[in-house]
Amino acid sequence: MESNIFSKLNISNASQLPDNVIDLIHKNIEPISTLMAYSRCAIMEVETKFKVLNEEFSLQYDRNPIESIKSRTKSIESLVKKMRDRNLPFTVEAIEEHINDLAGVRVVCTFPEDIYMLAECFLKQDDITLIEKKDYIKNPKENGYRSLHLIVSVPIYLKEEKRDMKVEVQLRTIAMDFWASLEHKIRYKKNLSETVQKQLADELLYCAKQSADLDLRMQAIRRNIE
Ligand code: GTP
Ligand code: MG
Repeated sequence: MESNIFSKLNISNASQLPDNVIDLIHKNIEPISTLMAYSRCAIMEVETKFKVLNEEFSLQYDRNPIESIKSRTKSIESLVKKMRDRNLPFTVEAIEEHINDLAGVRVVCTFPEDIYMLAECFLKQDDITLIEKKDYIKNPKENGYRSLHLIVSVPIYLKEEKRDMKVEVQLRTIAMDFWASLEHKIRYKKNLSETVQKQLADELLYCAKQSADLDLRMQAIRRNIE
């Protein structure tokens, strides 16, 4: 494994780091770590809201609409890549303004209708502000990807102040999640010929349609037995 980060910069040790790089690190590392810590707080707030809804629902209807919740803060590596791709200056202000998914919460639901029920209850809460909504369930992406995406702002309460933090919430069924993880793995496979890529893309699209169909049929069965 590559352990010496300096070799990537084409220098052998820290004494050769250019002043502007040191300056960039010095000015930004601490505020970025703070932002990451606040993002973890925002994740806790959002997770709790979904857990509470799940509890209430299971008391009322004796079933859990949420299978699991998976959260993450964006890694520094993928943050830096995104900022480079978008030609953004590497500053905390630019991150706060342009990066919506420093904090990410993925809510995996049992049935498609649970997704909309949970999203509605969540968005109704008076400390949640909807910034953007993308419904890739009603309008799946061309490759077959389905999920409901919400970018929201949620307040976190610190010692001296209240801060509004952005969180990306992805709601999907188990089937949608299964599909998305497979597609994600395949996307990063290198050295596949164009023919193979095309075959995989067709096969994935077919699976996406089958899994959407399965979601609806299972939901219909559940409705019938209730
Ligand atoms: P970016 O996050 O910069 O891509 O912004 P965007 O405006 O394209 O956001 P979008 O809501 O389309 O996607 C955000 C996230 O959803 C991604 O980071 C993935 O986690 C997930 N996602 C979107 N499209 C796909 C897809 O085709 N396949 C998979 N596996 N995940 C996807
Ligand atoms: Mg995207």
